[in-house]
Amino acid sequence: MNSTLSRGLVIAAAGMALLVWPASSRADEAADLFKAKCAMCHGADGAGKPAMKTRDFGSADVQKQTDAELTAIVTKGKNKMPAYETKLSKEQIAGLVAHIRTLAKKN
Ligand code: HEC
Repeated sequence: MNSTLSRGLVIAAAGMALLVWPASSRADEAADLFKAKCAMCHGADGAGKPAMKTRDFGSADVQKQTDAELTAIVTKGKNKMPAYETKLSKEQIAGLVAHIRTLAKKN
C-alpha cells in the first residue's frame, strides 16, 4: 500500500469516527452553553455573583417564575442581563431554562 493511499484511509477513518460520535445529549449541551455564555455573570453553578448582583438560580425567587418568564428574560434581556434573541436559537434558550430548573434547591 503506498503512503498516499494509507494516509487517505486514515483520514477517511477519522471522518467516520466523527460521524458516528454520539451526539451529546441536549442537557450536556445546555450545561456547556451555560458555562460558556452565562457563568461569567451567574457563576458556574448559577449561584450568582455578588459583583453582578445576580440572584441564585436555585433560590425560590428565581424558581417561582414560570418557564415563559425565564425564557422572556433570556430572550429579551432585563436591565444588565443581555438579550440572547439574536445569539441563541429558541431551542438553545429552552435548553438553558431547563438547565436552570435543574439548579433548584431541594428542600
Ligand atoms: C453580562 C452579565 C450577564 C450574562 C453574560 C448573562 N446574564 Fe443573566 N442576568 C444578568 C443580570 C445582571 C440579571 C439580573 C437582571 C435584573 O433582574 O435586573 C440577570 C438575570 C437573569 C435571569 C433572571 C433571574 C432572576 O433573577 O430572576 C435569567 C433566567 C438569566 N439571567 C439567564 C441567563 C442565561 C441563560 C445566560 C446565558 C445565555 C445569562 N443569563 C447571561 C447578567 C448576565
